[in-house]
Amino acid sequence: EKVILAYSGGLDTSVILKWLKNEYNFDVIAVCVDVGQEEDLTLVKNKALSTGAHKAYIVDVKEEFVTDYIFPTLKAGAIYEDDYLLGTSFARPLIAKKLVEIAEKEEAIAIAHGATGKGNDQVRFEATIKALNPHLKIIAPWREWNLKSREDCIDYALKHNIPVPVTKKDIYSRDRNIWHLSHEGGNLENPWNEHDENIYQICVKPQDAPDKPTYIEIEFEKGVPISIDGKKYSPVDLIYKLNDIGGVNGIGIIDIIENRLVGMKSRGVYETPGGTILYEAHKALEKLVLDRPTLSFKKIVAEKYAQLVYDGLWFTPLKEALDKFIDSTQQVVTGTVKLKLYKGTCKAMGTKSPYSLYNEDFVTFGEDNVYNQKDAEGFINLFTLSIKIRSLMNYKKENF
Ligand code: ARG
Ligand code: SIN
Repeated sequence: EKVILAYSGGLDTSVILKWLKNEYNFDVIAVCVDVGQEEDLTLVKNKALSTGAHKAYIVDVKEEFVTDYIFPTLKAGAIYEDDYLLGTSFARPLIAKKLVEIAEKEEAIAIAHGATGKGNDQVRFEATIKALNPHLKIIAPWREWNLKSREDCIDYALKHNIPVPVTKKDIYSRDRNIWHLSHEGGNLENPWNEHDENIYQICVKPQDAPDKPTYIEIEFEKGVPISIDGKKYSPVDLIYKLNDIGGVNGIGIIDIIENRLVGMKSRGVYETPGGTILYEAHKALEKLVLDRPTLSFKKIVAEKYAQLVYDGLWFTPLKEALDKFIDSTQQVVTGTVKLKLYKGTCKAMGTKSPYSLYNEDFVTFGEDNVYNQKDAEGFINLFTLSIKIRSLMNYKKENF
């Protein structure tokens, strides 16, 4: 019988491949989904085959990832627990979707993944598989076998002649895609330890960034970024370009404690250079074009959206409904943002839009002939009426 394995070529999934063959006698179909992990995937495919895979697929989903997962989340302004730009979270449903498609095509009975029983990723993979095909079985070896740690995994690999990519010293768990790179484990597990800046792989250390600021302009159309400095880019190339610009300026490094869905806190360092620039730019443009109640309501939606994405609830009715709301707000999020990048900081310096609600005629401190300042008196009288009535009551009480 066939089983589909979400295969990365890393230690865990290589061991799982062998284990599925040895333990269950499955024909393992290794699927490596290319979300921009910057690895030689032909090597990964060959490694799968030489580790005993019956068949191996590489599926490039970068464009779908950016267009259908990253941009909707950007438009939502969704940020988990005020910091995390969800880089791993929204890749999981897409990967799982591809696994399901291949499982159906290959008539496999199960999907196996290498997420541990302690984390978020297992939930995200499995929620998606269940949403898209409730008949597929799920195999999560980390919840089943008696290997207890990455060290055990390394020993198993050495015993079964699987090449080991990490040494016992470099024990970070990393996840990279076109949007971000995460680092967990290692000395980050003690939250008192300052993280080692030498772990960065996309960004330079902010203090090593150029001494002169970099200015860029990003143009958006209906909430989606389309050009940098007047030059149009495809969605994928736009992210690459911003990762380059952000990376050399040390933009988008965070070191946070976060609440996992399963109830424990974890510590992670994330590098999201291009994403951080895009969030900053998008936020600045929305401030120019969205009215006050829409902006403030959208903030509530953003928080909910982030939670759904983090929790792996991508293919759910609420997520779909929120997308409709968000898209409606984005009809006017068209325009250009000028940003200044400097040693790890990224700030919007100017905005313009044909839908700008900013009207200098009204707001000017100079003379105007559109606004009657006398109108404000009546407005304030009614706006503050309840304050005044309560104050009158207090005053009366104190004086009797
Ligand atoms: N804590 C982050 C999240 O839950 C990153 C997880 C990284 N996953 C990994 N397999 N290394 O989204
Ligand atoms: C894992 O447990 O496999 C990685 C971390 C996470 O999913 O939260």
